[in-house]
Amino acid sequence: MLSLPVHRASRDSTIREALVNPVEFGVKHLESFRHCYGKMPYYREVLSLIEPHLRAQKPISLADFNKRIVLSICDYLDIETETIELSTLNIESRKNEMIAEIGGKLSAQIYLSGKGGKAYVTGEEEVYLTRGLALAYHDFQQLGDGSESGPIANYSILDSLCKLGSETRTLVANDEHVPLSLWMASSTGSGTNESVDIETLTEAKVLQHQQQLTSLPHDLPLYRWDLGQFLTPQHGKFALSLVATIGGRAIGYAVASVRDSTTAHLHQFVVAPEARRLGVGRALLTGLLDRAAAHAHLRLTVKVHRANPKAFDFYRRFGFVEINRVNRLYSELAVNLG
Ligand SMILES: CC(C)(COP(=O)(O)OP(=O)(O)OC[C@H]1O[C@@H](n2cnc3c(N)ncnc32)[C@H](O)[C@@H]1OP(=O)(O)O)[C@@H](O)C(=O)NCCC(=O)NCCS
Repeated sequence: MLSLPVHRASRDSTIREALVNPVEFGVKHLESFRHCYGKMPYYREVLSLIEPHLRAQKPISLADFNKRIVLSICDYLDIETETIELSTLNIESRKNEMIAEIGGKLSAQIYLSGKGGKAYVTGEEEVYLTRGLALAYHDFQQLGDGSESGPIANYSILDSLCKLGSETRTLVANDEHVPLSLWMASSTGSGTNESVDIETLTEAKVLQHQQQLTSLPHDLPLYRWDLGQFLTPQHGKFALSLVATIGGRAIGYAVASVRDSTTAHLHQFVVAPEARRLGVGRALLTGLLDRAAAHAHLRLTVKVHRANPKAFDFYRRFGFVEINRVNRLYSELAVNLG
């Protein structure tokens, strides 16, 4: 993580008054940037955006330093959204009250924070909710070396720029990929303000939601199901499987079928990246476990790729244990029902 040495007049000075001097950190930051992103396809292009700011020779206010970098990136991406300076909003409150007041003045609907900011907000959710602001937490994940072809949600702006160059704009403009455009964590931080519906994934529902279902990315490349895979008949499939929707839009599914008289098998289970860690997976799996138990199955099995530790963590939470190493890549897990 990069930090900026800041010169402040006093403890109470604002970021507009606080000064930074790129001479003190610019070279080090450029070196770290090269170290992290040097092998990515658009490294040089992105370097040309940020380098002038990091090589500036004069102290500058922290606010202006941030603003210039953000505006250079907006310029590169042809983003023309109006930028508003906090100092023009005449806000006197502090801390969470201040953030909520900014949101109120700008008619915002969501306050999106990094996960690290959650502790700052926890206990003060009411401050936001009373101003009509939902809370959402961005689950940042570090990018690999740029060569992988997996999903692209949760990248930082530098990750996306270095990997995709100006194509990043299509991500930002494409509602499908804007993390949390749809999602709002509730005041407890563990749900959504809009209700999530969990329904049986019948053939009719597959057809109704086919576009969203077939575009939900799995963490592992090549794992996105096509329509044919959703519709392939399997015993009990359209009675056991579930889809999660919000406002009529599919944001997750669990497809299962009957394996034998005692066992149901979970074939494919995905929650939209922007909707993860909000309890949707839990709701789907709990629904599926109840349903399988009601159909008199004694256990539910699932095959998990061993390069998917998140899925292992998730399933363990629900009592799944490894019962078999299927091959070099996959383990089979099972949980007893009832
Ligand atoms: C696995 C997956 C379905 C979980 O869905 P989700 O909606 O994010 O899960 P939830 O928010 O309901 O999480 C429930 C609990 O599971 C565990 N969990 C979920 N995601 C986790 C992660 N990334 N790392 C560690 N634990 C995790 C946590 O204990 C979590 O509870 P908490 O957030 O309250 O601590 C989702 O990450 C996904 O779609 N992954 C890509 C596809 C995939 O790997 N599917 C499984 C293949 S077999």
